[in-house]
Parts: sequence; structure tokens; C-alpha cells
Amino acid sequence: MQIRKTIASDLPAVMQIYADARQMMVESGNHNQWTGGHPAQAIIENDIAEGKSYVCTDGETVLAVFYLDIAPDPTYAKIDGAWQRPDAEYGVVHRIARARGAKGAGAFCLEWCFGQIPNIRIDTHRDNAPMIKLLGRLGYKYCGTIWLENGDERLAFQKVGAGNRLEEMSAFFNSRAESYNEVHVGHIDGGIESKNVIASFLPAHTKSIIDFGIGTGLELKGIFDRFPNAKITGLDIAENMLDLLKKTYPDKRINLYCESYLDYDFGDNLYDAAVSVMTLHHYTHEVKTNLYRKIYQCVKQNGVYVECDYMLSAHEHENPQEVEDFHFSEYQRLKDEQGLTDSMKYHYDTPCTVDNQITMLLEAGFSKVSEVWRKKDTVVLVAEK
Ligand SMILES: C[S@@+](CC[C@H](N)C(=O)[O-])C[C@H]1O[C@@H](n2cnc3c(N)ncnc32)[C@H](O)[C@@H]1O
Repeated sequence: MQIRKTIASDLPAVMQIYADARQMMVESGNHNQWTGGHPAQAIIENDIAEGKSYVCTDGETVLAVFYLDIAPDPTYAKIDGAWQRPDAEYGVVHRIARARGAKGAGAFCLEWCFGQIPNIRIDTHRDNAPMIKLLGRLGYKYCGTIWLENGDERLAFQKVGAGNRLEEMSAFFNSRAESYNEVHVGHIDGGIESKNVIASFLPAHTKSIIDFGIGTGLELKGIFDRFPNAKITGLDIAENMLDLLKKTYPDKRINLYCESYLDYDFGDNLYDAAVSVMTLHHYTHEVKTNLYRKIYQCVKQNGVYVECDYMLSAHEHENPQEVEDFHFSEYQRLKDEQGLTDSMKYHYDTPCTVDNQITMLLEAGFSKVSEVWRKKDTVVLVAEK
């Protein structure tokens, strides 16, 4: 069997495979997937035009067809559950079907896709028992539920290769600094709005701010718009991120420290406000609570700490705690699999529930913690000293 890109002259064979696949679905008790003649020929023509449709052939005979793209899929942005390695580049396979009797062709196609990129996401209907069985056999893991553009529910699966090694935190951000602003903003719920909104939660008298994990300083635009003369202290472990920040704001009063905020001593009662944006969803409860104690110490009386981060909200997840537990256990599994210890911190998303976040901040001493803004899983909390 071979794989090649689909060409226009394959269309009759390809459309016959889809017609047979629809019939086979019905025969196996799956009456709700690919109804109404889906996928229509126009969709496949478009896949071919984009160079994303492939066929599996044996000589002149087309045995199977599928769509493969290595790019974020909008319908995978929201999942009730959790993707493995959510930040890693992945391939997405859609519209995979094999000819009647072409046993093994589906598996061959999926394994070929995995060879192109060892991180594949795919979804299927919960009634598609043969597909679910095949995915399990090939080592795909069930990750949760996603919804198609038309609102239909699908089960989401993913296979991640051991080649997807966890990267040490500063190495991860240093190597991505150049493309960070563009990629990161497009990737997070709420986009740049989540950064710009931070300033509105700072006290009107704010003059001094400490920013943990300041990165390239995306949140500073909103802050300088409201407080043009604010004095910023910024910490980050990724030097390349800080270098970009320096170029963006050469004339502002910014003191940058290329240090881990986990180890650095911030002092007592020094800042009107502390902020952290999209950095703490990599740490455990214990690490965060210890950090929050230091943050509590370093802000002045009546000061605030504003945290914008990837958090698990009950508005978005049926059982946020289950999702949090899944992320932490996946992280542990990957570390075990790759023989990594806790002596280093790796880039892996372990978001916590909003409730747990609030509990940790209260435990650290803050008198009141409020959720003040949210876009899906991007949440802003304000903790008052
Ligand atoms: C997703 S970026 C967020 C950057 C910026 N705050 C923003 O919202 O665009 C996370 C940043 O946190 C930094 N970071 C992670 N752990 C850190 C630590 N322990 N100490 C200092 N910086 C850290 C990373 O280097 C990275 O620049």
C-alpha cells in the first residue's frame, strides 16, 4: 500500500468509498454520522485543492482516503476533557474512509499520518464502534468531547509519540520567543483582550507594579495606556523573551530580572500591585501557594494581586476537578515515561480549577478573592491584601 495526494481523477473512486463507508456505518449501527451524503464532493474537491486530501492505493486501486492537516483545528480549541501536550503542534485527520473489503487500509493511513507528525488528533461519532476500536488498537487515547461547527458532539482521541519530549521551561520559551507574540495570542481564549483588561483591575493610585513571568510584556500595553509612568519590576526565566520586551519599551521605567519567581525574594510592602499573566498554569498547588505567600508579602497594604491565567471554570467543564486531575496525572505519566524527575521544571500545562485557585490565594493570606473576567478558560482573579 502507498499513500499519495489525491488528484481530481481519483474523485469517482473516492466518492464511491465514501458512499460505501456511509452504508457500512449504517450496517454497524451508526445511523447518525455522515448523514445527508456527507462528505459532499465539493468538500473533497476543496481538500484536493488545498493539498490536504490523500489516498491509500494498491497499484491503480484506491483503497482509502483521508484528510490530513498540520495546523490547529478550530473545533478542537474547546474540549470537555483534556488534550495531551495541548501546546504542541499536531496533525488532524478527518474524513478517513476505506473501501469495502480493504482491511488494514484505515490502520495503514493512520500510521502513515503519525509518521508525518507524531501527534495526531482525531474525532469520531460515539456510535462509530469500528473506528473507536481501531483507534484504541493503534494506541490513541480518548481525550474528551468536542463539538463540530454545527454543534454535533464527537469523541476526541489523540496519539502522542515519545518523540514529543517535555522541554525544560526556560528552553521552551527561549526557543519560541521570536514567534511568541503571534502564536500565543492566537492560541489563548480571549486573545489580546485578556492582556489589555488587566490594567482596569489595578487601583487608581498604582505607581509600582511587579509582574511575574512578564515574558515579552504583552500585558504592558494596557498597563502603560492607563498608567504611563508606572514603574515595572518584571521577572522571567527566559532571557530571549525579556530581550524582546526591552526592544518594545526602551523608554519605560522597567527593571527586569532574568530569575525564577519561585526563588526570588520580592521584599515586603513594596508594590501597589502584583500581576501574573498566563504563567502559573504550569505549577502545583503547593508551589503556587508558597509563591502567593511571597506575593502577599510584597504588595503594600490595600494593594492587589491580579492573576490572569488558564483556569478550569465550572462554566466550561462539567467536572473541572476531574480535568485538573487529568492534567496533573498526564504530566506525571509523561515524566515517568521519559525518565524525568522533579529537579527541573518542564513546560506542561496543569491548569487548576477556579475554586482551587481562590482557595490557594485565601490560604496565602489574601482577604478577598474575586473572579472579575473570563473568556472560556482564560480567567482573571483579583486578590486583595
Ligand atoms: C505564556 S508566557 C506569558 C508571558 C506574558 N506574561 C504574557 O502573558 O504574554 C509564560 C512566561 O512565564 C515564564 N516563566 C515560567 N515559569 C517561570 C518562573 N518560574 N519564573 C519566571 N518566569 C517564568 C516563561 O519564561 C514565559 O515567559
